Amino acid sequence: MSTRKAIIGGNWKMNTNRSGAVALARGVAAESGSCADSVDIVLFPPFPYLSDVAQAVESTSGIGVGAQDFYTEPDGAFTGEVSLAMLKDCGCTWALVGHSERRHVLGESDVLINAKLHAALEAGLNVILCVGETLDQREAGQTDAINFAQLSYGLAGVSAEQMSRIVIAYEPVWAIGTGRTATPDDAQNAHAAIRQSLAHKYGQTIAETVRIQYGGSMKPGNASELLSQPDIDGGLIGGAALKAESFAGIITAAAG
Ligand code: 13P
Repeated sequence: MSTRKAIIGGNWKMNTNRSGAVALARGVAAESGSCADSVDIVLFPPFPYLSDVAQAVESTSGIGVGAQDFYTEPDGAFTGEVSLAMLKDCGCTWALVGHSERRHVLGESDVLINAKLHAALEAGLNVILCVGETLDQREAGQTDAINFAQLSYGLAGVSAEQMSRIVIAYEPVWAIGTGRTATPDDAQNAHAAIRQSLAHKYGQTIAETVRIQYGGSMKPGNASELLSQPDIDGGLIGGAALKAESFAGIITAAAG
């Protein structure tokens, strides 16, 4: 781990219910609140529970709440969509953009992802931009090329100054929810290449400050080894974030 402050996100996806979400948020605050000095912790609950979760963690400094998705427009006739102002009103200070499930299951394009990223920055939120290759792409030796392309499209028009509010999450699609984790070496190589690509665009000094999380079947048992890699600055956790205890195991590993 470097001098960059670790950041651990819990992406709850379309899981939990109201009472379970509140209990989980309280559990995270109780078990991991003491690590919040050394690790940024961000919870991404489903939309309907955002306010409840924000309220449950509001007295624990260092635990933030974020939106899994949002729409780019500020208001209007967009049935079913949720604006950034509404999310801020619910206590969000973070937003996810470009998650592989939104890219591959919901069909979001690089153009939309870039528009969302700009909208979130303009709204004053911090953003986690997710990138990562599919299994076919990995097997074809395209991991770095895919990551570079997703970074290049996703960060189009983003200034060096704005990079202080952006975290990159490298989430190889084949490792998400599969129990199959990238080896620490493979993950480190991808992270180093991502940092190099950021250096190319923004210069080495900025690239050294950007945090790059790993996501994909990270658990308490493999977190230390992944997080000890020099370019891995945290994790974006799905399944293991649904239990306060396993999430705490990863946060403790990140606190080092
Ligand atoms: P899993 O930890 O369940 O593999 O999910 C990772 C992820 O997609 C986080 O955004």
